[in-house]
Amino acid sequence: MSNVEEKLAKSLTAETTELIPYLPYLLQDLWELGSGPKGIKELVLKNISISENTKILDLACGKGAVSIQLAKAFGCKVKGIDILPEFIDYARKKAEEYSIQNLCEFKVEDINQSVINEEDYDIVILGAVGDVLGNTAETLSKLKRTVKKGGYIFIDDAYSLDGSNERYLSREQWNIVFRDAGVALVDEKIIDDSELEEINKYNQDCIIARANELKKANPEKAEIFEGYIRSQQAECDELEGDITGVTWLLQVI
Ligand SMILES: C[S@@+](CC[C@H](N)C(=O)[O-])C[C@H]1O[C@@H](n2cnc3c(N)ncnc32)[C@H](O)[C@@H]1O
Repeated sequence: MSNVEEKLAKSLTAETTELIPYLPYLLQDLWELGSGPKGIKELVLKNISISENTKILDLACGKGAVSIQLAKAFGCKVKGIDILPEFIDYARKKAEEYSIQNLCEFKVEDINQSVINEEDYDIVILGAVGDVLGNTAETLSKLKRTVKKGGYIFIDDAYSLDGSNERYLSREQWNIVFRDAGVALVDEKIIDDSELEEINKYNQDCIIARANELKKANPEKAEIFEGYIRSQQAECDELEGDITGVTWLLQVI
């Protein structure tokens, strides 16, 4: 199994690449797959002077929830890239529904390729994508290449509250990574606990219903669908527990 497939599965909280063909079905009821478009819009309004000439790159855009809502709100140009063709089809249909096809371009591509080809953007977004572009230092260095000097980077990630969770950096460790990468932390958005619980519950209910349908249709694969329900729940519990999900807004120095 390729590294790209393993990281793709992980980016959508799947423990096995066997689930990849079923992810569009499991996630068909959800549009927002990670980042909160509302929080990103607020950060843009508060910190960035945005116009119809602003060019945004949304890497691993999923079904385009962030791209489309930014283009609709600010009239700016957005390019969204994701590796799953079903997600890109969905994003194109949504752009039509919002009557902003002229502002949005959606493309199927591995973002490891996009960070080499794409450049000169005002803003780049990497929303809830995990380690697809490498560790945090590698990720920031690749994202920096895609924006102009003084351009902005949005990343969605999480930090460990007391530094005791081995898989997540503490806030202090993130600050060191930012400094070493040559980016300044401009602002951040932390989702409030009750909103997070509500989103997690809605998402989990939708996923459980679809996983149960798949179990009925493919009883021989019941265990992988059960496993998906468990891994989704574990992620919700972790985010409601000792790690904090955050959207960082960074500026290239
Ligand atoms: C948790 S979702 C986040 C989607 C979107 N950013 C959002 O917040 O709604 C992770 C996304 O990463 C995409 N992805 C994973 N590996 C990728 C790769 N190598 N190239 C492009 N997209 C990738 C998945 O297809 C999925 O849409």
